[in-house]
Amino acid sequence: MTGPIKAGILGATGAVGQRFVQALANHPWFEITSLAASERSAGKKYKDAANWRLDVELPEDVAEQEVVPVDPSKVDADIVFSALPSTYAKKVEADFAIGGFGVASNASAYRMEKDVPLVIPEVNADHLDLIEVQQDERGWDGFIITNPNCSTIMMVPTLKPLMQFGLSSVNVATMQAISGAGYDGISSMAIMDNVVPYIAGEEEKMETEPLKLLGTFDGTQIIDADIKFSASCHRVSVMDGHTEAIWATMDDDPSPADVRQAFLDFDPGLRDLPTEPERTLIVRDEPDRPQPHLDRNMGNGMSISIGRIREGIRYVAMGHNTIRGAAGASVLNAELLHKKGKL
Ligand SMILES: NC(=O)c1ccc[n+]([C@@H]2O[C@H](COP(=O)([O-])OP(=O)(O)OC[C@H]3O[C@@H](n4cnc5c(N)ncnc54)[C@H](OP(=O)(O)O)[C@@H]3O)[C@@H](O)[C@H]2O)c1
Repeated sequence: MTGPIKAGILGATGAVGQRFVQALANHPWFEITSLAASERSAGKKYKDAANWRLDVELPEDVAEQEVVPVDPSKVDADIVFSALPSTYAKKVEADFAIGGFGVASNASAYRMEKDVPLVIPEVNADHLDLIEVQQDERGWDGFIITNPNCSTIMMVPTLKPLMQFGLSSVNVATMQAISGAGYDGISSMAIMDNVVPYIAGEEEKMETEPLKLLGTFDGTQIIDADIKFSASCHRVSVMDGHTEAIWATMDDDPSPADVRQAFLDFDPGLRDLPTEPERTLIVRDEPDRPQPHLDRNMGNGMSISIGRIREGIRYVAMGHNTIRGAAGASVLNAELLHKKGKL
């Protein structure tokens, strides 16, 4: 392919959509060619439709672009990045794949389907080869790839280096930011001065998605990892940044020092992807880190900070949920696709 890769954003006006705009606006490989959202926004200039803007700087050409409906015939792109609500994504993402588009989705709609890659480039880059299986089975010219739930993705890259010690079970308790629920997600009166100990569907996602991510691709299918997960998920009064307390049991019974060294040594083996952080895992030795307020923007929001590594093994992980947990993760997947010659 010569020239920039044309990128559309589906759900461009939402919390994740705006992060896509941020990630793609000055991207060396992609050019934003379509911004799509609901009928409420279609026909408006992007700057007027996304009028509750995050701290995202809008280039003039993006601000003035007209929002189009989420319809393959109205979108001009080689790849579309989807930040649509899951129920709606289920129908339209397939329409885009049938229409020949590559779809990189944040929605949960297709994540657990057997022939759909669920990928974190630093963890299971080889699972992208499932695209060929998907296209053969479904007869699609395009394809769908997905990235995990925003809580799963803060945990799994920290588990990858622990696999060498015979990881057998993981317990996790989350403290999840408000932005993880989207703009309309939770009322300010429900979350200010409060903790809500329930997020619909979240614990199930955290207990199933890691099995696929840490599983092995045998050329035709993913064989799930043999690890037990138990999750408890909570919404807290933080704008951005999911914090997770993790307990990991391993057959080899490594010491906290062994685990710390494994995090430091973790080399995901990617090279030269524009959105890849210098370090995927950052180890903090201060007793009161990581904290969302101080650490969520490390590596342009793409690093996962780890601290409080103790006997047990217990530790705390934290990362930016709408960047590493959503838009940045999708863009990194698309960059890897391009590097592998699949885009
Ligand atoms: N927030 C996170 O941290 C996070 C992390 C990982 C994954 N995700 C997933 O990413 C997706 C987007 O989440 P979000 O937090 O960005 O949600 P959001 O802020 O509510 O934004 C939803 C977007 O989808 C559009 N939309 C809604 N209903 C539509 C319809 N019927 N037809 C066409 N467009 C429609 C909205 O357009 P209008 O503005 O025109 O209504 C808006 O652009 C969800 O599937 C979510 O589960 C979110």
